[in-house]
Amino acid sequence: MYRASPNEGIAWITGASSGIGRGVAIELARRGYRVAATARRADVLAVLAREAQGFGGDISAHPADVTDASGIAGAINEIETSRGAIVLAFLNAGSYFIDAPESFGGEGFRRTFELNVGGTANCLGPVLRSMRPRGRGQIAINASLAGYGGLPQAAAYGASKAALINLAESLRLSLADTGISIQVVTPGFVRTPMNAQNKYPMPFTLPADDAARRICDGFERGGFEITFPKRLAWPMKAINLLPYPLYFWIVGRLTGGHGRAR
Ligand SMILES: NC(=O)c1ccc[n+]([C@@H]2O[C@H](COP(=O)([O-])OP(=O)(O)OC[C@H]3O[C@@H](n4cnc5c(N)ncnc54)[C@H](OP(=O)(O)O)[C@@H]3O)[C@@H](O)[C@H]2O)c1
Repeated sequence: MYRASPNEGIAWITGASSGIGRGVAIELARRGYRVAATARRADVLAVLAREAQGFGGDISAHPADVTDASGIAGAINEIETSRGAIVLAFLNAGSYFIDAPESFGGEGFRRTFELNVGGTANCLGPVLRSMRPRGRGQIAINASLAGYGGLPQAAAYGASKAALINLAESLRLSLADTGISIQVVTPGFVRTPMNAQNKYPMPFTLPADDAARRICDGFERGGFEITFPKRLAWPMKAINLLPYPLYFWIVGRLTGGHGRAR
């Protein structure tokens, strides 16, 4: 599979203004990449760009909203015109919106799918149209371990992440032999603003800079899935192979039936 390297072009990251995306932007710039950072908050991206001064690579700010398809296409065009071809895209922008069963199907569900799935699709279209004629590119989609199987209080979030895993699997097959490699990232709990207010236990939570290093190692290593921490990911893979009665019994016991998973 194609694996990008810093001298070949630009690394583009969405959701780069905080948490995992911010950590990956800094880590890639440290590793010598010229990074193009996208999120809605222009002021925060400007601070991030300054922070990378003195690194082997650099970071430029390209504010845009991933739910705005034409705005995102414009940002990609601006990045490629002003900085160079995107060879690595980390489609990471996403969030959790409350989708409790009593209010299910409303605003939380719509916003979750609009951002997590629709936003990723809005980025994928123009990035693929750019990479295809060049015959090379690496795209990593940030999903979550929550996409492996249903978890309590995560019907919209988990379903959106399951959709991204399926989408990445499909693209991986469809784009075989085109020179474009697709990866899916399935992190466990990472300490970020998204889950800062959580009251329930989050086993094996990692700091964002640790998660970022693991993700960047995964970009360099290649392979389809970048998943961590293994001590959470592998048991979660295993319980999803069990018959449903056992699956529901184990997940119910572990979460008390009302824990949330990101
Ligand atoms: N934290 C975890 O435990 C965990 C675990 C597994 C997967 N994930 C996934 O990791 C990704 C990043 O989450 P995080 O934990 O790092 O959360 P975070 O710190 O809240 O970061 C979310 C990022 O997405 C950006 N964003 C939100 N809406 C956007 C929009 N409409 N257009 C463009 N950018 C937008 C935010 O920036 P602006 O507000 O400036 O736009 C921010 O940079 C998400 O996809 C999340 O589902 C997180």
